[in-house]
Amino acid sequence: MVENREKFAVLTCYDATFAAVLENAGVDVLLVGDSLGNVLHGSDTTLAVTPEDMIYHTRCVAHGSNKALIITDMPFGSYQISPAQAFEHAARIIAAGAQMVKIEGGRIMADTIQFLSQRGIPVCAHIGLTPQSVHQLGGYKLQGNTEKSAKQLLDDAKALEKSGASLLVMEMVPAKLAKKITQALSIPTIGIGAGPDCSGQVLVLHDMLGLSQGKKPRFVKDFMPGAKNVPEAVANYVQAVKTGQFPAKEHEF
Ligand code: KIV
Ligand code: NA
Repeated sequence: MVENREKFAVLTCYDATFAAVLENAGVDVLLVGDSLGNVLHGSDTTLAVTPEDMIYHTRCVAHGSNKALIITDMPFGSYQISPAQAFEHAARIIAAGAQMVKIEGGRIMADTIQFLSQRGIPVCAHIGLTPQSVHQLGGYKLQGNTEKSAKQLLDDAKALEKSGASLLVMEMVPAKLAKKITQALSIPTIGIGAGPDCSGQVLVLHDMLGLSQGKKPRFVKDFMPGAKNVPEAVANYVQAVKTGQFPAKEHEF
Protein backbone atom coordinates (compact mmCIF):
# COMPACT_ATOMS: atom_id res chain seq x y z
CA MET A 1 0.00 0.00 0.00
CA VAL A 2 2.80 2.38 0.83
CA GLU A 3 4.53 1.63 -2.49
CA ASN A 4 1.20 2.46 -4.19
CA ARG A 5 0.99 5.67 -2.11
CA GLU A 6 -2.22 4.44 -0.51
CA LYS A 7 -2.76 5.54 3.09
CA PHE A 8 -3.72 2.66 5.37
CA ALA A 9 -6.34 2.75 8.10
CA VAL A 10 -5.73 1.28 11.54
CA LEU A 11 -8.11 1.07 14.51
CA THR A 12 -7.74 -0.52 17.89
CA CYS A 13 -9.86 -3.62 18.38
CA TYR A 14 -10.40 -5.88 21.34
CA ASP A 15 -13.06 -8.47 20.40
CA ALA A 16 -14.33 -10.73 17.61
CA THR A 17 -17.50 -8.83 16.72
CA PHE A 18 -15.67 -5.55 16.19
CA ALA A 19 -12.87 -7.35 14.36
CA ALA A 20 -15.39 -8.52 11.74
CA VAL A 21 -17.15 -5.14 11.59
CA LEU A 22 -13.91 -3.18 11.20
CA GLU A 23 -12.49 -5.54 8.61
CA ASN A 24 -15.69 -5.50 6.56
CA ALA A 25 -15.65 -1.69 6.68
CA GLY A 26 -12.17 -1.66 5.14
CA VAL A 27 -9.84 -1.28 8.14
CA ASP A 28 -6.44 -2.60 7.09
CA VAL A 29 -4.80 -3.19 10.46
CA LEU A 30 -6.38 -4.17 13.79
CA LEU A 31 -4.34 -3.03 16.77
CA VAL A 32 -5.02 -4.90 19.99
CA GLY A 33 -3.85 -1.95 22.04
CA ASP A 34 -3.06 -1.88 25.73
CA SER A 35 -5.45 1.08 25.63
CA LEU A 36 -7.84 -1.69 26.65
CA GLY A 37 -6.65 -0.79 30.15
CA ASN A 38 -8.38 2.56 29.65
CA VAL A 39 -11.41 1.73 27.54
CA LEU A 40 -12.26 -1.79 28.77
CA HIS A 41 -10.87 -1.83 32.33
CA GLY A 42 -11.54 1.82 33.17
CA SER A 43 -8.02 2.57 34.39
CA ASP A 44 -6.32 5.98 34.13
CA THR A 45 -3.18 4.37 32.68
CA THR A 46 -2.17 1.27 30.71
CA LEU A 47 0.23 0.16 33.44
CA ALA A 48 -1.87 -2.58 35.01
CA VAL A 49 -2.52 -4.46 31.75
CA THR A 50 -1.08 -7.99 31.82
CA PRO A 51 0.23 -10.40 29.16
CA GLU A 52 -2.82 -12.57 29.92
CA ASP A 53 -5.13 -9.62 29.08
CA MET A 54 -3.34 -9.07 25.77
CA ILE A 55 -3.37 -12.77 24.91
CA TYR A 56 -7.09 -13.11 25.68
CA HIS A 57 -8.07 -10.09 23.55
CA THR A 58 -5.72 -11.10 20.73
CA ARG A 59 -7.44 -14.49 20.58
CA CYS A 60 -10.86 -12.78 20.47
CA VAL A 61 -9.79 -10.47 17.62
CA ALA A 62 -8.10 -13.28 15.68
CA HIS A 63 -11.33 -15.33 15.85
CA GLY A 64 -13.32 -12.50 14.26
CA SER A 65 -10.79 -11.54 11.61
CA ASN A 66 -9.81 -13.09 8.26
CA LYS A 67 -7.53 -10.73 6.43
CA ALA A 68 -6.51 -7.69 8.47
CA LEU A 69 -3.00 -7.51 9.92
CA ILE A 70 -3.25 -8.01 13.68
CA ILE A 71 -0.73 -6.12 15.82
CA THR A 72 -0.78 -6.58 19.60
CA ASP A 73 0.81 -4.33 22.21
CA MET A 74 3.30 -5.86 24.58
CA PRO A 75 2.10 -4.61 27.97
CA PHE A 76 4.13 -2.73 30.58
CA GLY A 77 6.68 -4.94 32.31
CA SER A 78 6.58 -7.75 29.74
CA TYR A 79 9.57 -6.70 27.60
CA GLN A 80 11.69 -4.05 29.29
CA ILE A 81 13.91 -6.41 31.30
CA SER A 82 15.66 -8.22 28.45
CA PRO A 83 15.30 -9.40 24.86
CA ALA A 84 14.74 -12.94 26.20
CA GLN A 85 11.89 -11.77 28.45
CA ALA A 86 10.38 -9.94 25.48
CA PHE A 87 10.60 -13.03 23.28
CA GLU A 88 8.83 -15.24 25.84
CA HIS A 89 5.84 -12.90 26.03
CA ALA A 90 5.84 -12.04 22.32
CA ALA A 91 5.77 -15.74 21.41
CA ARG A 92 2.61 -16.22 23.49
CA ILE A 93 0.98 -13.19 21.84
CA ILE A 94 1.89 -14.47 18.38
CA ALA A 95 0.56 -17.93 19.28
CA ALA A 96 -2.75 -16.27 20.25
CA GLY A 97 -3.12 -14.94 16.69
CA ALA A 98 -1.22 -11.66 16.28
CA GLN A 99 1.14 -11.32 13.34
CA MET A 100 3.19 -8.52 14.91
CA VAL A 101 3.88 -7.14 18.38
CA LYS A 102 4.25 -3.48 19.34
CA ILE A 103 6.87 -2.17 21.75
CA GLU A 104 7.10 1.33 23.21
CA GLY A 105 10.43 3.14 23.37
CA GLY A 106 13.28 4.63 21.40
CA ARG A 107 16.81 3.36 20.73
CA ILE A 108 16.90 1.71 24.16
CA MET A 109 14.59 -0.93 22.62
CA ALA A 110 16.72 -1.49 19.51
CA ASP A 111 18.46 -4.62 20.85
CA THR A 112 15.13 -6.15 21.84
CA ILE A 113 13.59 -5.40 18.45
CA GLN A 114 16.60 -6.91 16.71
CA PHE A 115 16.35 -10.03 18.90
CA LEU A 116 12.66 -10.56 18.09
CA SER A 117 12.78 -9.67 14.40
CA GLN A 118 15.80 -11.92 13.75
CA ARG A 119 13.90 -14.79 15.39
CA GLY A 120 10.74 -14.55 13.33
CA ILE A 121 8.60 -12.03 15.19
CA PRO A 122 7.80 -8.81 13.30
CA VAL A 123 7.84 -5.73 15.53
CA CYS A 124 6.11 -2.36 15.37
CA ALA A 125 7.99 0.32 17.31
CA HIS A 126 6.21 3.20 19.10
CA ILE A 127 7.79 6.60 19.89
CA GLY A 128 6.69 10.08 20.87
CA LEU A 129 4.10 9.91 23.64
CA THR A 130 4.60 6.41 25.04
CA PRO A 131 1.78 5.96 27.57
CA GLN A 132 3.60 3.22 29.51
CA SER A 133 6.14 5.93 30.49
CA VAL A 134 3.47 8.39 31.65
CA HIS A 135 5.04 8.91 35.08
CA GLN A 136 8.46 9.55 33.55
CA LEU A 137 6.98 11.94 30.96
CA GLY A 138 4.90 13.74 33.59
CA GLY A 139 1.59 13.38 31.78
CA TYR A 140 0.00 12.70 28.40
CA LYS A 141 1.54 15.51 26.43
CA LEU A 142 3.12 16.51 23.15
CA GLN A 143 6.64 15.12 22.54
CA GLY A 144 9.40 16.27 20.20
CA ASN A 145 8.39 19.93 20.45
CA THR A 146 11.89 21.24 21.13
CA GLU A 147 14.80 21.16 18.72
CA LYS A 148 16.71 18.75 20.94
CA SER A 149 13.84 16.32 21.55
CA ALA A 150 12.87 16.41 17.86
CA LYS A 151 16.42 15.42 16.91
CA GLN A 152 16.30 12.62 19.51
CA LEU A 153 13.06 11.25 18.05
CA LEU A 154 14.48 11.31 14.52
CA ASP A 155 17.60 9.46 15.72
CA ASP A 156 15.41 6.98 17.64
CA ALA A 157 13.32 6.31 14.53
CA LYS A 158 16.42 5.62 12.44
CA ALA A 159 17.86 3.31 15.12
CA LEU A 160 14.59 1.38 15.36
CA GLU A 161 14.37 0.92 11.61
CA LYS A 162 17.98 -0.28 11.56
CA SER A 163 17.23 -2.77 14.34
CA GLY A 164 14.59 -4.46 12.17
CA ALA A 165 11.32 -2.77 13.12
CA SER A 166 8.66 -3.33 10.44
CA LEU A 167 6.48 -0.34 11.33
CA LEU A 168 6.69 2.75 13.50
CA VAL A 169 3.87 4.37 15.48
CA MET A 170 4.33 8.06 16.31
CA GLU A 171 1.99 9.45 18.96
CA MET A 172 1.46 13.15 19.80
CA VAL A 173 4.38 14.70 17.94
CA PRO A 174 4.35 17.85 15.78
CA ALA A 175 3.05 17.18 12.26
CA LYS A 176 6.20 18.66 10.74
CA LEU A 177 8.44 16.27 12.68
CA ALA A 178 6.28 13.23 11.82
CA LYS A 179 6.56 14.18 8.14
CA LYS A 180 10.34 14.52 8.39
CA ILE A 181 10.67 11.15 10.14
CA THR A 182 8.35 9.43 7.64
CA GLN A 183 10.46 10.77 4.77
CA ALA A 184 13.69 9.69 6.48
CA LEU A 185 12.56 6.05 6.87
CA SER A 186 11.84 3.28 4.41
CA ILE A 187 9.44 1.47 6.79
CA PRO A 188 5.84 2.72 7.00
CA THR A 189 4.78 5.03 9.83
CA ILE A 190 1.44 5.16 11.65
CA GLY A 191 0.35 8.42 13.19
CA ILE A 192 -1.91 9.32 16.10
CA GLY A 193 -1.82 13.02 16.80
CA ALA A 194 1.08 13.20 14.33
CA GLY A 195 -0.44 15.02 11.37
CA PRO A 196 -1.45 13.86 7.88
CA ASP A 197 1.91 12.80 6.44
CA CYS A 198 2.37 9.41 8.09
CA SER A 199 1.88 6.29 5.93
CA GLY A 200 -1.20 5.31 7.94
CA GLN A 201 -3.39 6.57 10.79
CA VAL A 202 -4.68 4.98 13.98
CA LEU A 203 -7.32 5.93 16.52
CA VAL A 204 -8.70 4.21 19.58
CA LEU A 205 -11.99 2.58 18.51
CA HIS A 206 -14.00 3.97 21.43
CA ASP A 207 -12.70 7.49 20.69
CA MET A 208 -13.72 7.42 17.03
CA LEU A 209 -17.17 6.12 17.98
CA GLY A 210 -17.64 8.96 20.48
CA LEU A 211 -17.89 6.57 23.42
CA SER A 212 -14.83 7.52 25.48
CA GLN A 213 -15.52 9.34 28.72
CA GLY A 214 -13.79 12.49 29.94
CA LYS A 215 -11.78 15.10 28.09
CA LYS A 216 -10.87 13.97 24.60
CA PRO A 217 -7.47 14.76 23.11
CA ARG A 218 -7.19 17.22 20.24
CA PHE A 219 -6.28 14.51 17.71
CA VAL A 220 -9.51 12.52 18.23
CA LYS A 221 -12.42 12.72 15.82
CA ASP A 222 -15.84 11.23 16.52
CA PHE A 223 -17.10 9.66 13.26
CA MET A 224 -20.60 8.80 14.51
CA PRO A 225 -22.24 12.13 13.61
CA GLY A 226 -23.32 11.82 10.00
CA ALA A 227 -23.25 8.01 10.00
CA LYS A 228 -26.38 5.89 10.30
CA ASN A 229 -24.67 3.14 12.28
CA VAL A 230 -21.31 1.89 13.58
CA PRO A 231 -20.20 0.11 10.38
CA GLU A 232 -20.89 3.30 8.40
CA ALA A 233 -18.93 5.44 10.89
CA VAL A 234 -15.98 3.06 10.54
CA ALA A 235 -16.25 3.11 6.74
CA ASN A 236 -16.28 6.93 6.88
CA TYR A 237 -13.10 6.85 8.98
CA VAL A 238 -11.40 4.55 6.46
CA GLN A 239 -12.49 6.83 3.62
CA ALA A 240 -11.29 9.95 5.45
CA VAL A 241 -7.86 8.39 6.04
CA LYS A 242 -7.50 7.17 2.45
CA THR A 243 -8.49 10.54 0.97
CA GLY A 244 -6.32 12.48 3.42
CA GLN A 245 -9.31 14.32 4.92
CA PHE A 246 -8.40 12.94 8.34
CA PRO A 247 -6.42 14.14 10.20
CA ALA A 248 -7.29 17.78 9.46
CA LYS A 249 -5.43 20.88 10.72
CA GLU A 250 -7.56 20.98 13.86
CA HIS A 251 -6.30 17.49 14.87
CA GLU A 252 -2.58 18.17 14.52
CA PHE A 253 0.09 19.80 16.66
O1 KIV B 1 -2.87 1.13 22.94
C1 KIV B 1 -3.18 1.78 21.92
O2 KIV B 1 -4.36 1.96 21.58
C2 KIV B 1 -2.10 2.35 21.11
C3 KIV B 1 -2.45 3.23 19.97
C4 KIV B 1 -3.18 4.44 20.40
C5 KIV B 1 -1.27 3.56 19.12
O3 KIV B 1 -0.96 2.10 21.41
NA1 NA C 1 -0.67 1.05 23.34
